[in-house]
Amino acid sequence: MSAPTPKTLSSSALDRADEIQGRYPEKRSATLPLLHLAQEELGWISDEIIQWVAAKTETSPIDVLGVVTFYPMFKQGPSGRRHVRVCRTLPCALRGACHTMEVLEKEFGCKHGETTADGSVSLEYVECLAACGSGPVVQVDHALYENLTPDKAKTLAEAVRNSLADPSYGLTPPGPDSPEWEG
Ligand code: FES
Repeated sequence: MSAPTPKTLSSSALDRADEIQGRYPEKRSATLPLLHLAQEELGWISDEIIQWVAAKTETSPIDVLGVVTFYPMFKQGPSGRRHVRVCRTLPCALRGACHTMEVLEKEFGCKHGETTADGSVSLEYVECLAACGSGPVVQVDHALYENLTPDKAKTLAEAVRNSLADPSYGLTPPGPDSPEWEG
């Protein structure tokens, strides 16, 4: 089965997809890297991408959808430029994760599971982020913030807002070593 070319992926991403696929003797083993590639380019996984990955890996769309829905890092709809994820698993919940989320919802003006009206920030609950001894734990894109009490959550929200205008963001994400961080 040949893979229909997604209209949304650039030619360089398609070249990279072929290169990725060549690394795996078992075609289905390329499922996760192809999904990551698509999400890095588009920000989320559309139905078109699911069909494309299924064809490339010679699996079915439902198999690929199962992978997408299993891993919380995959987005199934357009999302914000910053992803703010609050751990809600028991250790973090007992240390006030829901209060931290309430502060973040107020700061960003949107509920969990939503994206701000200007498309800048997506807010969501996730399960364990593997830092259970220092909850509440919040992840902003690839950076982890621990002991995120409600007061510290306000500081983090401000740092996230400031980062939207920072062209070096991603090289030096807001955090304990950055000047705006007072957590
Ligand atoms: S329970 Fe929150 S990081 Fe593990």
